[in-house]
Amino acid sequence: LTSTRYPGLKRGQYSEVTDEDIRAFETFVPSRVVTNLDEILPHNVDWLRMVRGTSKILLKPKTTEEVSQILAYCNSRRLAVVPQGGNTGLVGGSVPIFDEIILSTSLMNQVLSFDDVSGILVCQAGCVLESLDKLMEDHGFIMPLDLGAKGSCHIGGNIATNAGGLRRLRYGSLHGNVLGLEVVLPDGIILDCLSSMLKDNTGYDLKQLFIGSEGHLGVITTASILIPPRPKAVNVTFLGCATFSDVLSTYKLARSMLGEILSAFEFLDDFCMNLVETKLGLHNPISKQPFYVLIETSGSNSSHDEEKLNFFLEKLTFDKIARDGTLATDLSKLKEVWDIRERISESLTLCGTTYKYDLSLPLSKMYELVSHMRERLGDLVTNCVGYGHLGDCNLHLNFTTPEFSEQVLDSIEPYVYQWTAKHGGSISAEHGLGLKKANYIHYSKSSPSVDLMKNIKQLLDPKVTCPNYLLASVGSIAKHLE
Ligand code: FAD
Ligand code: MLT
Ligand code: ZN
Repeated sequence: LTSTRYPGLKRGQYSEVTDEDIRAFETFVPSRVVTNLDEILPHNVDWLRMVRGTSKILLKPKTTEEVSQILAYCNSRRLAVVPQGGNTGLVGGSVPIFDEIILSTSLMNQVLSFDDVSGILVCQAGCVLESLDKLMEDHGFIMPLDLGAKGSCHIGGNIATNAGGLRRLRYGSLHGNVLGLEVVLPDGIILDCLSSMLKDNTGYDLKQLFIGSEGHLGVITTASILIPPRPKAVNVTFLGCATFSDVLSTYKLARSMLGEILSAFEFLDDFCMNLVETKLGLHNPISKQPFYVLIETSGSNSSHDEEKLNFFLEKLTFDKIARDGTLATDLSKLKEVWDIRERISESLTLCGTTYKYDLSLPLSKMYELVSHMRERLGDLVTNCVGYGHLGDCNLHLNFTTPEFSEQVLDSIEPYVYQWTAKHGGSISAEHGLGLKKANYIHYSKSSPSVDLMKNIKQLLDPKVTCPNYLLASVGSIAKHLE
């Protein structure tokens, strides 16, 4: 079968789900086998509403053993499975392409333990990030990651995508914060790498393979995570700059003057500001400027932090690096300012189709690409905006059109990837490859690296039929692709 929805993509040689299969699933996860198409629909469509599968079955296991039974059975029957967390992924990896079985972690939401001395949390993969953060707050701790999708995304999905987000600058990547994982392999074997030790150099660190592997090598069922203490003093300053070069000077100064209390450095252009103002009714707390910077500081002593911040803001004003700014210290103002940054992606979805690019680039080149693409695409697009995690050298370059246009897509890809590769960047800084970027991996990884990934996939999932490995491989245990 070739899909007319995705020309060129071919369904792999997997079986189709039969009534007998459904009866078997009922014995593994009683009353948690969903076949009602209306209930399955939101799980078939991705957050950006661009990728849509035709799955007729959704399974909701509650335990690792149930996941193991499901995968062992699917493996023996050659049934394709796509693991799904909160379905907030932005690269089309979390939904089926054809009729893959959807394995949802939505009922795997138990916190198993939290040790408030070591700060180690052990929880199931389906815990929602925001719920975990609220629980940690009650104990005086903070989740080491935060993102706009926190209300829906699952910790298992975060780990599967190695999500970066808004706190990476302070707490580092999940490759460092995840201490252990329990994973069910494609044949149902339970791999226990659930160490809660900070140091463990016995052999290869296998859990790392699954962090960022986008559900391709196994289903993450449980995680052990190192949780930092919640900072007692948090301040946010929102600044306006006349040029991107001033944004970079602000960053340089922030690093040297704020030092260890700097916990986030985000930027957006005025095109983003216009969108959140007009589409979401948000309020710009300062005067209009071509660029805005959001700086968060987190520390343990508010008067110490405020003193540092004030010196920093004085210097920025004196040197005319920032044109305007505001300081938020109370919770409602903090939220108001963070909303401007976090809700840009939501405002874009209200403009029609979003073409989303998530790139790592040298800072000196970052905004050059946005200006260049704006010129290149001209009236073809309604919006061309740039924002992102500047402190991580991570640009989010987005375009919108009222409706999907093949011509626009062709004008952007592979040009944006070529440009990124030419400047030594990465074509996916934090969102992963999914369905949308898999074919472009060569712009960021060498052939031997890609070959090794293919061998690892085949070792763990030998039944996968994927001559076109790059498409088949990324985003599911066994996507229905050849
Ligand atoms: P899903 O979307 O359900 O799945 C994502 C991928 O992981 C899929 O390939 C899926 O098969 C696999 N997967 C899910 N659960 C498991 C599991 N238990 N075991 C194995 N594989 C699994 N991303 C960032 O990095 N930084 C951001 O700042 C950020 N902000 C966002 C803001 C918004 C508004 C939105 C909508 C998305 C944002 N994202 C961001 C992208 C997305 O939220 C992250 O990729 C998130 O980590 C996905 O989690 P999820 O539970 O929704 O996973
Ligand atoms: C963000 O940083 O806002 C997210 O990665 C989502 C996006 O890129 O739109
Ligand atoms: Zn991001």
